[in-house]
Amino acid sequence: MRSVETRLCHLDPENPDRAILVEAAEILRSGGLVAFPTETVYGLGANALDANAVARIFEAKGRPSQNPLIVHVPDVESAKRVVSEWSETAERLARHFWAGSLTLVLPKSPAIPSLVTAGGESVAVRVPAHPIAQELLRVCGFPLAAPSANPSNWLSPTRAEHVWQGLVGRVEMILDGGATTGGVESTVLSLIHTPPRLLRPGLVLPSQIREVIGEIEVDAKVEQEETLLSPGQLLKHYSPHTPLHLVGEEVEKEIHLLLEEGKRVGWLTHTSTLAPHTNLITVSMPTFATEYAARLFDVLHRLDALGLDAIFVSLPPTDEAWYAVQDRLKRACVTH
Ligand code: TXA
Ligand code: MG
Repeated sequence: MRSVETRLCHLDPENPDRAILVEAAEILRSGGLVAFPTETVYGLGANALDANAVARIFEAKGRPSQNPLIVHVPDVESAKRVVSEWSETAERLARHFWAGSLTLVLPKSPAIPSLVTAGGESVAVRVPAHPIAQELLRVCGFPLAAPSANPSNWLSPTRAEHVWQGLVGRVEMILDGGATTGGVESTVLSLIHTPPRLLRPGLVLPSQIREVIGEIEVDAKVEQEETLLSPGQLLKHYSPHTPLHLVGEEVEKEIHLLLEEGKRVGWLTHTSTLAPHTNLITVSMPTFATEYAARLFDVLHRLDALGLDAIFVSLPPTDEAWYAVQDRLKRACVTH
């Protein structure tokens, strides 16, 4: 892959420098890639109407072409232009949750290249709330296809530094708006299915969606089965690089044994009773799901950078507020 020069530009989210946004839009208009913050995670943006630009996203991430991208637009009116059908249900959800972290899957407009939708007839669309994402989309005037700005199968980025570590030399510009507040990717809801189906849990919860449109189906993958994995099990992993083990309460003996062998271990928990040890890094995680989600990827990035032998994560609660965290943890510890 050819290498490009990556510019890192700091922007104040409250008052983003327009000259930098105009430059970013120019890069995007001419087929380049710009990473930008959203309220969930950083996105790797390309002009969604330019198939060659979109192809560069897949190349930069090493992403399999069967995995479709989310199209980002600044408002409901622009969303209607990337779909071929706009239902009453879509209207209600958009009015209620946009701008925000809900992605809707709808029949695609012919204007959207099939590369964006992985050859499918549906397109995922969302209106991000982050002021930098909003301003960038408005200055561009065209929709942006944007997956999370990480190499495929690595941790999602919640800071510009994470994007830099993963994609330097593969993207023309990174807009640094500081840490994102959401911390996990948007909720994905398919309106192609009847009833609508939750494809990926996020910070917009099933019960909140049901309050607005009635019954939805929650994909089996999202619900809480086969979560508990035995602590000692050697797991294949893709994200982070350090083996991550999702564990129950009886993990302290396991950790103790590893420490005795001279291993270095990280542990995300709320209930540590282990004595301090030079080779053990205990991270006390928040007990509120939204706060936990906001910190999760950043903590994993930091622990991963230390080259530990193992990261243990005590399982968080299983009620719906924790679906998104549970889902991301499961993905972080198994091959997928
Ligand atoms: O919060 C987010 O959604 C972030 C920020 C950057 O907006 N983006 C993001 O994109 O997480 P990505 O590519 O990492 O995840 C997109 C998800 C994938 O699970 C993909 O399979 C699903 O959305 N998706 C995209 N288009 C779809 C479609 N037409 N039908 C079903 N699922 C789709
Ligand atoms: Mg992703």
